[in-house]
Amino acid sequence: MANINLLTPGRIGGLDTPNRIMMAPMTRSRAHDDGVPSELAITYYVQRASAGLIATEGVAPTAVGRGYARTPSIHTPQQIAGWKKIADAVHAAGGRIFMQFMHVGRIANSANRYTAEPPIAPSAIKAEGQMWTDANGMQDFDTPRALETSEIPGVIEDFAQATRNALAAGLDGVELHAASGYLPMQFLSPHTNRRTDAYGGSVNNRIRFVVETLQAMIAAAGSSGKVGMKISPGIVFNDIQETDPAETFATYTALLKAIDPMKLAYLHVLQSAFSNTFETLRPLVSVPFAAGGGFTFESGNAMLASGQADFIVFGKPFTSNPDLPVRFDKGAALTPFTPETFYTPGAKGYTDYPPL
Ligand SMILES: Cc1cc2nc3c(=O)[nH]c(=O)nc-3n(C[C@H](O)[C@H](O)[C@H](O)COP(=O)(O)O)c2cc1C
Repeated sequence: MANINLLTPGRIGGLDTPNRIMMAPMTRSRAHDDGVPSELAITYYVQRASAGLIATEGVAPTAVGRGYARTPSIHTPQQIAGWKKIADAVHAAGGRIFMQFMHVGRIANSANRYTAEPPIAPSAIKAEGQMWTDANGMQDFDTPRALETSEIPGVIEDFAQATRNALAAGLDGVELHAASGYLPMQFLSPHTNRRTDAYGGSVNNRIRFVVETLQAMIAAAGSSGKVGMKISPGIVFNDIQETDPAETFATYTALLKAIDPMKLAYLHVLQSAFSNTFETLRPLVSVPFAAGGGFTFESGNAMLASGQADFIVFGKPFTSNPDLPVRFDKGAALTPFTPETFYTPGAKGYTDYPPL
């Protein structure tokens, strides 16, 4: 497997890919208030169809899982129809697309929601910090309600139903967002999970929600090769406090040992707080390993050449370079990204970056 670089064809999730470049899941806040993706999103994803694999923005599997302004969901017929237009258009353009399920758990404010249900979490602990709302500007996070043990199978079933919905919409597969301090990571992390039932306390209990959710998603998909996962050990975001590397890697080692036999489509790992994340976790999994977080053309190629990853995930560069693989191929300069328009409504900074 020598000489692999970003432009080497690959295989992931049962799909042949023209390169080893994955487009990172990125929330862009252009959906309608009812969680239906906008028509603009069709153009946005088609423009990026040269990626080896597109991971969509975080999509709420259910109404209570939506926490941010103008983010899409996948539980109503209208939402499913909206996503079908996107999947069909990406396929017609020659691309491949997995849907990321983002259930925010406690990272929510009522002004951003279309359900009156309060946010849910492993424990009723309000996250420190604030989030944007269109109605009232920056607001504190709501205090979540702790899930009863008897409710957890229903939450897991929401992910299974979302899997059936995404595949019915024509997506090639689905990704569980178990990173960035959202619901699955709130179960993994001791600071956010103070439960005393079978879903909290010991490492084996804290990984249980993620393991059972993946099992349910795989059963719903009828194939583990259609289900991927993203993790971000130690990330400093959304009031996650995984500061002790030994404790943190013990949790993720147990998680990956438990899930490797499932043979997922891929594992996407975001490197953040700890410098040895990839070296520590890569040997634990036999499925395609997608490494992300601050990669460039040079560092991505070096990572692939060293055999430490099978795919490289690019986020911010894809916002302003829709044809990123083409630019890498031609050695063309990259257009700098503009954080000011990451989450603003409309075409500006979203679909108005031209290809080469
Ligand atoms: C605008 C923006 C939105 C993002 N939204 C999500 C998201 O919905 N789900 C997710 O897993 N990560 C999200 N991320 C993180 C990216 O997936 C990626 O892990 C991160 O940007 C690091 O990669 P990069 O350095 O290549 O940008 C987002 C990042 C950006 C810049």
